[in-house]
Amino acid sequence: MLYSEKVMDHFSNPRNVGEVENANAVGQVGNAKCGDIMQMSMRIEDDIIQDVKFKTFGCGAAIATSSMATELVKGKHIDEALALTNKAVMDALDGLPPVKVHCSVLAEEAIEAAIADYYKRQGKEFTPKKACGGCCHDCHQEAE
Ligand code: FES
Repeated sequence: MLYSEKVMDHFSNPRNVGEVENANAVGQVGNAKCGDIMQMSMRIEDDIIQDVKFKTFGCGAAIATSSMATELVKGKHIDEALALTNKAVMDALDGLPPVKVHCSVLAEEAIEAAIADYYKRQGKEFTPKKACGGCCHDCHQEAE
């Protein structure tokens, strides 16, 4: 089986789909490779993510990783959410096939974009973790 049971579960029953009402952090990112788009919206209070939802025009792996990522950051401090890597999300899903690794990067980047928006709305400066310039293979993405 190409996909783990957890991936299939999160793909078939994605958690936290939609848009958070009264969101004060919204981020949208796109994947230049496949053209897919991911949006994360959050309500953050005192730097704690009270609620988070995602919307995607993306593939099944993007849906599964975003679903898992929202579960992992809900209720967490924004610093913890920023520290969440696509690798950790994939591990929580028992892995993804190598050609689908880039899809999980979308979820990580959308979380960062939403938190950057939160900083901006507060008039605070945000230092990006690292800009994804395509492929440094740091995310262990296989060359295609
Ligand atoms: Fe585009 Fe998966 S193929 S996000």
